[in-house]
Order: sequence, then structure tokens, then C-alpha cells
Amino acid sequence: MDTKKTTDTVKELNVLLADYHLYYQKLRNFHWNVMGKNFFDLHIKFEELYDDAKLKVDEIAERILTLRFQPDSNLSDYLEVSQIKESASAIADSEMIKILLADHGILLKQLRKVSEIAEKGGDEGTIDLMGGYIRELEKTSWMLDAWKMKTNETLKPV
Ligand SMILES: [Fe+2]
Repeated sequence: MDTKKTTDTVKELNVLLADYHLYYQKLRNFHWNVMGKNFFDLHIKFEELYDDAKLKVDEIAERILTLRFQPDSNLSDYLEVSQIKESASAIADSEMIKILLADHGILLKQLRKVSEIAEKGGDEGTIDLMGGYIRELEKTSWMLDAWKMKTNETLKPV
């Protein structure tokens, strides 16, 4: 593959790696600190989500290595590069869901950016990886949106 074009992809993959790190730690934060009537549901759901984010952190870093580049590997790098910001801990569960949905927007934007740049470099492997992540994150976002809705609310009819 064209090294110049791969360099561009890797630069954005490193941003994605940082984003996923911050997202992962935020999910742990929320897993530990969620309070109230929804504790049992959300405590488990946040664990499920951070387990998935942990796998993706590893896959992204190893994709960078597969492209023969070095992934950013220190927390200080992630804090500097990430577009996702840290959150407070003592916040309402509904606020946690709102923050996570906003973070999903940031992640989806970065996933699409990586995919577009990888396309210019003819990097099918990265495009395929991003496609799967986008699909899964869109589904998780729908579920969190459903959680926010009232029991008698419905989605838009076609
Ligand atoms: Fe736990």
C-alpha cells in the first residue's frame, strides 16, 4: 500500500484509538458511579459496553501495527488527542446516557473519517473494520435512544 496514503489513515486511526480509550474509561466511570432505580440495568449495560470498547481499542491498535506503524500507547497521548472529554461521576443516569449518545456522535464521525481516508488509500481492511464498528455503534445508539423514550412513545412511522 501507498505509504503516504497509509500515513494519513494511521493518523486518524490514532485519534480513533484515543477516542475509544476515553470512551472506555468513561463507561467504567459510569459503571461504578451510576445510582438510583436503574442501577442494576445500567451497571450491567455499561460493563457490556466497556468490554466491547476494550476489544475495539485492541483491534484499532493492532490494525495500526498491521499497517506497519506504531500506535500511540500512553494515556497522556490519548488525553491530548481525544475528541471525547472526561465526565464527572456524580451525575444522573439520564445525563450519563445523554453524554454517551453525544460521544457516539463523535465516534461515528471519526469512524466515517477514517473510512473515507482509507478509501483513498485503497485500504479495504480498514474500511471493512470501520463499517462493522459503525453498524454496531448505530445499533447501540438506537438502544440508548429507546431507553430514553417513554413506554407509550413510538418511532416515526414510514
Ligand atoms: Fe464491575
